[in-house]
Amino acid sequence: MSKIKNAELSEYQTLKKKINEYDRLYYLQDSPSVSDKEYDLLFDRLLELEKQYSELVTPDSPSQRVGVKLSKKFETVKHRIRMLSLQKVTTEEEFLDFNRRVNEGLETEDEITYATEPKLDGLAVELIYEKGLFVLGSTRGDGSSGENITSNLKTVKNIPLKLSDKTALSFPLLEVRGEIIMKKSSFDKLNKKLRSENIAPLANPRNAAAGSLRQLDSSITASRPLIFYTYGISEQSLKQVRSQSEAIRLLESEGFLINKYCQIVRGADKVSSRFEKLSLVRENLDYEIDGMVVKVDSFEQQKFLGNISRAPRWAVAWKFSAEETETTLVDVEFSVGRTGVITPVAKLAPVKVSGVIVSNASLHNEDELNRLNIHTGDTVIIRRAGDVIPEVMEVTTSRRKKSQKKVKFPSTCPSCGSKISRPKEE
Ligand code: IVH
Repeated sequence: MSKIKNAELSEYQTLKKKINEYDRLYYLQDSPSVSDKEYDLLFDRLLELEKQYSELVTPDSPSQRVGVKLSKKFETVKHRIRMLSLQKVTTEEEFLDFNRRVNEGLETEDEITYATEPKLDGLAVELIYEKGLFVLGSTRGDGSSGENITSNLKTVKNIPLKLSDKTALSFPLLEVRGEIIMKKSSFDKLNKKLRSENIAPLANPRNAAAGSLRQLDSSITASRPLIFYTYGISEQSLKQVRSQSEAIRLLESEGFLINKYCQIVRGADKVSSRFEKLSLVRENLDYEIDGMVVKVDSFEQQKFLGNISRAPRWAVAWKFSAEETETTLVDVEFSVGRTGVITPVAKLAPVKVSGVIVSNASLHNEDELNRLNIHTGDTVIIRRAGDVIPEVMEVTTSRRKKSQKKVKFPSTCPSCGSKISRPKEE
């Protein structure tokens, strides 16, 4: 084993500190301070160093837990069966490697039957039904224990509170797992409302869902438009249910909502086609997905493959390549269009987003400029979707220094110097 250099040790310690802090902000305060992409980069580097120098791995490393510390607000509940995380791949090649490992693990050359499902970007929860009654609902937390949020989950309209007598008899205990999400359109509406009440808007639909679920006052949760999509049950080998597809069918017959893009396919090629299909429809969905989850369908095969530490060998998250990234706002220019309309354009430190170098992004209009409360020198999150002009999505205010100046919409035309007017309703 090679010996760790001082520089690497201090890099490792900095990474660990940063990741812990980002986790705390993200999970406990529902306010992300870095983009997913930057977080993943840091985390991947941490794993790389740990792989190289195994002595770095201590029980308090961020790699040793699925989620993060729990907030003190809710009672803690231990999951009977650990809520696992997923290995991730980002290219077809990596997915084919996964498929190869599955074939090897199962000692077969036959094509594998997989369940393909959108990877919903919300909050993972577990619902426990005893004798058909919904008795306990919890967050995933750190994978082993989560928070008891039963009363809040009971306010989510599409969660069945009671199952059929038949299912209650066959499954005296049923642990249902899935994701709580908020639709993009509901999120926009909610933020509009919050703004009109002078309350700080929420960062994104996922954080809105998480924040809504972790309210101490359930009536606030009840007023938020949350949706539960189920993606499975906890046990891998119940006698009456032999596969992911059977589990989904059972849940659907009990009134649980199943995402319409869930599909069973045979063979790696078909999985790739599903991934392409999902990448295409993604933009038009009214909820956020960040990839596709691929699961070996048969529970017997799942059991045979087993888990590696915190992730199953029988499933993988095939993530979409990041369309969002962080960069610095150098300046804002106000461009004057042919008809005299003035548009603020962000001048950025050049950065690569989905394979393209971006140095300009749209700030749309005066309202958007005010919404973002943007200052020169800010760290901004930009997003590029398809051929659309990149946009500034968010500003990471936590890194703002006092000396930075707020960008103001001009009162005179930058082209001819005449006074700018804003017609009503525009
Ligand atoms: S299956 C072992 N299916 O992804 C199986 N998870 O890293 C683990 N997620 O936070 C979960 N959509 O909430 C599964 N269709 C889906 C999913 C999904 C989103 C989330 C899950 C968890 C993370 C797993």
